[in-house]
Amino acid sequence: MVANELRNSNLLHLEDVYQAYGDHVVLDDIDLSVAHGELVTVVGPSGAGKSTLLRLILGQELPSSGEILVSGEPVGFADPSRGIVYQKYSLFPNMSVLDNVTLGKRLELSFFQWQKRKIAIIDEAMHYLEKVGLNSHSKKYPHELSGGMRQRVAVVQALIKRPKILMMDEPFGALDPGTREDLQIFLLELWEETDMTIFFVTHDLEEAAYLGSRLIVLSQHYSDDRGDGPGVQRGAKIVADHILSRSNLSTDVKYTKGFGKLIARIRREGFDPQHRQHIREFDLKHPHSFRTNTVEEVRCK
Ligand SMILES: Nc1ncnc2c1ncn2[C@@H]1O[C@H](COP(=O)(O)OP(=O)(O)OP(=O)(O)O)[C@@H](O)[C@H]1O
Ligand SMILES: [Mg+2]
Repeated sequence: MVANELRNSNLLHLEDVYQAYGDHVVLDDIDLSVAHGELVTVVGPSGAGKSTLLRLILGQELPSSGEILVSGEPVGFADPSRGIVYQKYSLFPNMSVLDNVTLGKRLELSFFQWQKRKIAIIDEAMHYLEKVGLNSHSKKYPHELSGGMRQRVAVVQALIKRPKILMMDEPFGALDPGTREDLQIFLLELWEETDMTIFFVTHDLEEAAYLGSRLIVLSQHYSDDRGDGPGVQRGAKIVADHILSRSNLSTDVKYTKGFGKLIARIRREGFDPQHRQHIREFDLKHPHSFRTNTVEEVRCK
């Protein structure tokens, strides 16, 4: 599909997006289009700009240049249609689980609106808490919960706003491997049930390859025709865009040969500073992957 078709039909569309801080180019001409219902995992070396990309999609920052559309509309600031879950649980220690979960809604409403809708909102919160197995813990305070439980509360906190896109920035990064795997399965079940679009940043390649329906590699390790002269400022690009398929939720797939091969490939494509693919060789096989001309290419014409 070409960029224009994708722009009109997909939920999220980024075109020619650059982000620089001073003369430090972080994101270098990002073209990305995501259909409704995808679970996009994003990996890349530390400092590649994964969190920056997330902040741009959330509308917390404006890009230096380029376009970011959600449902065809330019992203606005502080739009609740994009929920977010961070690595560090954003729970208030002096509030119960239920109060933490309903706080977002309470802040959005006037006193009278809240009184009117309170029962329905609490019912909804309890429904989500039940989904994540925490309904019997709703009166507890965060310090009475394990790390995995707190992170599940943080997911509910985001879900209750019914975001069009759930943005997750290393949400399971602080958890032990067993809890992490439990939450991976929980997220997949939730995704299958709710038909939600999820954008999930992680350091862990195994996690990305297991969870994603689509896996994107963002990296600053590549080459192009700009050379490596002192004036060249090169930021990260999407160097690979894989479509992934999963037949069931079993984590056994992590121990298969194909899975190991994919991870080795991603490590080489995105994480090895010595392995610099030319931009023409990027592995962009996903059907929604597209590339417009870079500023440099336009200049050279
Ligand atoms: N507000 C800012 N001002 C200046 N530089 C910034 C700002 N935000 C991010 N950066 C720089 O942008 C680069 C990318 O940062 P970012 O946090 O997006 O990377 P990341 O891929 O999420 O890394 P990590 O895997 O370590 O979380 C870094 O070099 C960082 O220092
Ligand atoms: Mg980050």
